[in-house]
This record gives sequence, structure tokens and C-alpha cells, in this order.
Amino acid sequence: MAKKSVSVFYCQECGNETSKWAGKCPACGAWNSLVEEVVDKSTVKTRAKVADVKPTKLINVEASNEHRVSTSIEEFDRVLGGGIVPGSMILVGGDPGIGKSTLLLQTCQKLCQSNVEVMYVSGEESLQQIKIRADRIGQFNDKLDLLCETNLDTIKAVVEREKPNILIIDSIQTMYNEAVGSAPGSVSQVRESTSVLMEIAKVQGIAVFIVGHVTKEGTVAGPRVLEHMVDTVLYFEGDRHASYRILRGVKNRFGSTNEIGVFEMRDAGLAEVKNPSAVMLDGRPENATGSIVTCSMEGTRPILVEIQSLVSKTAFEIPRRMATGCDYNRVNLLVAVLERMRDAKANRSCGIFLGRSDIYVNIAGGIRINEPAIDLATALAIYSSEKDIPVDAGTIVFGEIGLSGEVRSVSMAEQRVNEAKKLGFKKAIIPSSNLSSVSNIKGINIVGVANIKEAVDAISR
Ligand code: TYD
Ligand code: MG
Repeated sequence: MAKKSVSVFYCQECGNETSKWAGKCPACGAWNSLVEEVVDKSTVKTRAKVADVKPTKLINVEASNEHRVSTSIEEFDRVLGGGIVPGSMILVGGDPGIGKSTLLLQTCQKLCQSNVEVMYVSGEESLQQIKIRADRIGQFNDKLDLLCETNLDTIKAVVEREKPNILIIDSIQTMYNEAVGSAPGSVSQVRESTSVLMEIAKVQGIAVFIVGHVTKEGTVAGPRVLEHMVDTVLYFEGDRHASYRILRGVKNRFGSTNEIGVFEMRDAGLAEVKNPSAVMLDGRPENATGSIVTCSMEGTRPILVEIQSLVSKTAFEIPRRMATGCDYNRVNLLVAVLERMRDAKANRSCGIFLGRSDIYVNIAGGIRINEPAIDLATALAIYSSEKDIPVDAGTIVFGEIGLSGEVRSVSMAEQRVNEAKKLGFKKAIIPSSNLSSVSNIKGINIVGVANIKEAVDAISR
């Protein structure tokens, strides 16, 4: 007789399955991440009769005119790609206390006002606790159903009976499925629970929002497979001690990724921030050295941010380099480029020596940017701090830097310059190869630079 239940080991980082325990996951290399789970293998999966299955010609597939449901929160709609697609699954991840439950409850409030039936299932809070939060947010109408439940079979039955348009599960780590033996939050529970919810979403056409906790590494706790299974993955991030929050799309089957929505956590819930550039530049020092404004594209949206740098004599054997909000290795690369800077016209080296200096780079406002378009501003901020030359506060700088010090073109230069102009900037230092695309913009002095030396000259003037 075949054994009915067997022990398998799951990696909590990547969801890899092995039959033996090991100290290191053979798939992702994480240490001490394998946990034992008992899996019931007695159920035999039935397969559809092979003869009945036929492929369909692509040209014969009719495009369904999908109707998206607006959340009435513009910042949220943008990240979703224009609204909620019926039958889709959306994972909202984020650190504890960042405001996931608040965001979703507020979404419930707005959806109910547009006569959408919503069911909010909480496995973490009691009805009273949800009520206290709801009172802070504001008035709710009678469309919202609450359910405090962690048993998925019960939830499934209730959903089938009540037939809401939108279902919210807060959080997936608290849900459990009786068919799976392991504890809530374990890899197989999270995976099975998600597939049950997926069935609810696809079969009944209900959009399902799932809240997921994240590990200290910043990924959704438990299996990575969760991200593969759902249609959309959103991360809610920001510094818990500061009030700004960023909702970021990292995967979206129904829209563009890398869109962001910006919110501010207030006393009465989250408020939308319609003009993030102004917020990011708030409190910027005037005429300070080492401070430069750049423009980064977050999806389709230009955002101005201030890059700060501080260069000081080191007190250590090996100088310190620190990067907050941008890539550390990129900063090191830019430092090397500044040291080897060449004056092409005079054909001589004019690099600055930074080998005995500590260098700190920070992006103000708590935002994280990985785009190479901020290279030029970062390099100039370091230069400005080292040389003690303040950069005019009305100047904006962007461009990618190559290893030989050349300034390379960036995408969407026109949008970036326009955003700067809108916020009253007077001068833009941009890659010379981008000049043609911004030639029709009036009212801002645009300077094209081909290499880092020209950029340095442009801010020193
Ligand atoms: P919460 O939504 O519970 O976070 P998560 O579900 O991601 O764990 O976030 C609650 C935090 O936000 C908590 O620290 C209190 C704060 N908060 C406000 O500042 N204003 C408000 O109106 C609400 C509802 C919460
Ligand atoms: Mg919560």
C-alpha cells in the first residue's frame, strides 16, 4: 500500500520542495530556511480526458471588453493600471504597521460609496478593532460586510452565498485550510490558501485582494510562489516613522509595473499625495553644497527628488562610503569616474582625489531609486560637496554616466524637463544626446553635456 502522508521540506524563502532536510536550500542558497511539513498524498488528481482538449486559434479568441472597477482613489487606480479587473488577484505586501489594512479599509469605504459589494475578511483583528479603525477613517455606508474568520472553507462557503464583487483577505498568513495539516503561515498553507482563493476569483469573477506580510529581507513571507500565482503584486513601503507611504507595483498582468502611488498617513487615514515632487523637495536647503535636484521616472510619472552628498576627511584606515535610497555599488562607480575625470579639450586628467574621504549619499524623502538617470546628479552632488561649490537651487540635473565619464541619454527626457519647469526650475543640465527631444520646450534654460567634465563646468559657472 502506498503511504498516505509524507514529510516534505519546504524552503521558506523560495518555496522549493525537497524530501530531505538540509542546512542550506539547494535552490536559493538560503541558510536554515527548510521547514518540515506533512503532506497528505492520498487524494488522486483526476485528469480531463485528453481527447476533449483542443487548442484554440488565437485569431478566434474574442477580446473581452474588460470593465475595470475604479477604487475612486486615483493613486491606487494608477498602480492597478486603471482600476480593479474583475476576477483578478492582487497581493498587497508590506512591513507590519505600514498601513496595508488602513489602505484596504479605505478602499472598501470608497468602493461601497460607488455601490460595489465588498467583503472584508480579517484573520488578525476583531470586529471592534476594525470598527475603531473605520471610525478614524470616516463614514461608511451599509454595503460593507465584515467577517472575522481564518478557516478558508468557511470563507469560501460565505463568499458563495453572499456573492460580493470584491473580497479582501487580511492576511494570507493567518488563513488555514483544513485539508493541509500544517500551521497557518507555513509555506504549504499559504500556497494552498492562495489556490483556493484563486479558484474563488476565477470561477466567480470576484476580485480578491490578499494582504501579505513581508520578511526582513523585504519579500512576501513564505513562498515566492505566491507572487507567481497572483495577477498583481503591490508593495506598500516607506519609513514607518515618517508619514509618507509609497505603493509600488512590481508585477501587473493588467497594467504597467513600476507605477507608484504616493500617500500620506494622517490622523484620519491615508491621504493621496497628488504632487509628490513638491513633497519630496519640501524643506530643501537653499544654496547648500552637495545638494542637487534630479528627476526620476516612476513608471509614467516624473518625480523630482533631492540628492544629497557629504564628503569629509576620513578618520579611518579605509574611508566609509554610504548610500541611502540609491545603489551603493553605483555610488562607488561614480566615485571612480570622478577620480579619473578627463578634460577632453585640454587633453589632460582633471579628476578629484577622494581616496581619503568618507562619502555619504542620501536621497531625501525616504524614497528608493534604482534608475541610472540619477547618476549625473549623484556625481555632481559629490563633486559639489568635495569642492564646496553650492549648486544653484533652480537647477535640475539628470543623465546616466558611463565608465569613461560620458553622459548617456535617458528615456523620457521631455517629461522630466517639463516636470522641472512646472515646479519653477530655471535650468536643466541634461545629456546632449537628449537635446533634440526637448528642443520645443520653452521657458527653461536647457544645457546639454556630453561628459562629466562639461557637467562639472556647467554647475561651476
Ligand atoms: P495598519 O493599517 O494597521 O498596518 P498594517 O495592516 O500594514 O500592519 O497601520 C496602522 C498604522 O497606521 C498604525 O501605526 C496607526 C497608523 N494610523 C494612523 O496614523 N492614522 C490612521 O488614521 C490610522 C487608521 C492608522
Ligand atoms: Mg493589518
